[in-house]
Amino acid sequence: MAKQWLAQGFPVGIPTETVYGLAANIFDAKAIASVYEAKRRPSFNPLIVHLRDVAAIGDMAVWDGLSNTLATAFMPGPFTLLLPKKDNVPDMVTAGSTKVAVRVPSHPLVGSLLRMTGFPLAAPSANPSGYVSPTSAKHVLDGLGGRIPYILDGGPCQVGLESTIVEVIDRSIVLHREGAIDRAAIEAATGIAPMLKSGTEVHAPGQTKSHYATATPLLKGDVAALMASMGAESNFAIITFYREYPHWAGSRQFRLSPGGKLEEAAQNLFATLRRVDAMGFDYILVEDFPDQGIGIAINDRLERARHEHKIG
Ligand code: TXA
Ligand code: MG
Repeated sequence: MAKQWLAQGFPVGIPTETVYGLAANIFDAKAIASVYEAKRRPSFNPLIVHLRDVAAIGDMAVWDGLSNTLATAFMPGPFTLLLPKKDNVPDMVTAGSTKVAVRVPSHPLVGSLLRMTGFPLAAPSANPSGYVSPTSAKHVLDGLGGRIPYILDGGPCQVGLESTIVEVIDRSIVLHREGAIDRAAIEAATGIAPMLKSGTEVHAPGQTKSHYATATPLLKGDVAALMASMGAESNFAIITFYREYPHWAGSRQFRLSPGGKLEEAAQNLFATLRRVDAMGFDYILVEDFPDQGIGIAINDRLERARHEHKIG
């Protein structure tokens, strides 16, 4: 079914190991326009091209040796490379940029879909622009149901956070978005410590504030201190890594991984944010995560979701 809808030029919700995507044939301008339209995504924000294997990247983009080393180490998987694009990649997909973001997802369902369709799939995360990314088919339905004809259900996403995005510039590695493939893994594979993108050049427009945001104001920091700063009558919930606050109602606290596993916390993060967001609290208070492994990416997403609003 997913294959037929895609071949007919409709956008389709697809599972990947990171988050669900909203996919369309990269060569079908109308289908790509429907992706932007369904998400209400600004047309200047480019889409990642999903390919069946690493060999297919050469049809879309120009390789360099270091990017190739990175691809060999991390693809298929939760990893995206920004490369100079070839002429056959439509400008609409890259929003006019001369670079294209390419990714080879490891989820078996999207792998077989890519082999069956025969064309690459441009896919942003399948959420209305600005909201929390979806990690289940139900999340896609909640956000985009009625705007898209079909969602391929591949179960809950294994990773739960969007892919790591990197770009090789000269002989250095620029990290545009933190993800499951962390800095340490990149350095171990290449011998080069990645540099965090400087704030001066916006290579990835999605990397601005007000992304991944809940409707409920989200505050991040030391949860005990934040709780102490809240007014007596304020109605809030807390989200923690593994800690329990025995003096706080169990129905208002959510632990992402009672066993203290960062991978599990990442898997549960977006589903928990969505669930708590729907419960009508005035505030969501979230703990700082350890700055290691995927904890770095968890903190990154929460920093982007947090509201600038300060408690007086
Ligand atoms: O894990 C993922 O990467 C998921 C799944 C569905 O593959 N996709 C995803 O797509 O997170 P999206 O569109 O939500 O985020 C992609 C980010 C955006 O910040 C976008 O601006 C950036 O990648 N991006 C895509 N193409 C680009 C390009 N040609 N140049 C610079 N940035 C690009
Ligand atoms: Mg997104």
